[in-house]
Amino acid sequence: MQTTENYQNELIAYLDSFTKTGEPKNLYEPVNYILKLGGKRLRPVLTLMSAEIFDCDYKKALDAALSIEVFHNFSLVHDDIMDAAPIRRGKQTVHEKWDVNTGILSGDAMLIMAYQLFENYEPQKFQALAKLFSKTALEVCEGQQYDVDFEVRDDVTIPEYLKMIEYKTAVLVGAAMKMGAIVASASERDQNSIYEFGRLLGIAFQLQDDYLDAFGDPKRLGNK
Ligand code: IPE
Ligand code: MG
Repeated sequence: MQTTENYQNELIAYLDSFTKTGEPKNLYEPVNYILKLGGKRLRPVLTLMSAEIFDCDYKKALDAALSIEVFHNFSLVHDDIMDAAPIRRGKQTVHEKWDVNTGILSGDAMLIMAYQLFENYEPQKFQALAKLFSKTALEVCEGQQYDVDFEVRDDVTIPEYLKMIEYKTAVLVGAAMKMGAIVASASERDQNSIYEFGRLLGIAFQLQDDYLDAFGDPKRLGNK
């Protein structure tokens, strides 16, 4: 097992090699912009860690880790459009720097790129990764829609809120860790256990994120 920083650096180096600088510029520049904007790289780091936990060279999990990070960033681009948010990670959001249509299309391209990264795995792993990814991505959409629906309600219950954050955030953290286990050919039992660990970690993470959003000091919040 390595330090978090080491995993982050490996992921960033891999991201640099993945960067596309092709035409049309207005499609690919926003993709590179958001991916290079920083962030904690929490989810892909967890993928790499999970692969190593199950006795696999973490480098084999780099494509899956990057896929998770590209998907996460795609969801942020579209989320910022939906929220009309001007700032992300202390910088202009994609739709502010370019425009809304550019943000929509660059986001679409990122979702496709995220899937494409699974092509680097053998058929059996490709299928397992793509299946988990599709299920998770759909749940993220469901969570996002609950979030939108709840904005106009003043009677949201705690179980409803917990379901919303589970879908919007936690399942992706669970999937990030399960992908590391899939790449490592871990047993199904181990895959499911690490998914559960990630899911619960994701709920804790989103609870804290929402708490800081409501009560934290904006000057000390990097990603708002
Ligand atoms: C922000 O996620 C969006 C949520 C689902 C809470 P992060 O806080 O992981 O964002 P970055 O990637 O580190 O900026
Ligand atoms: Mg956050």
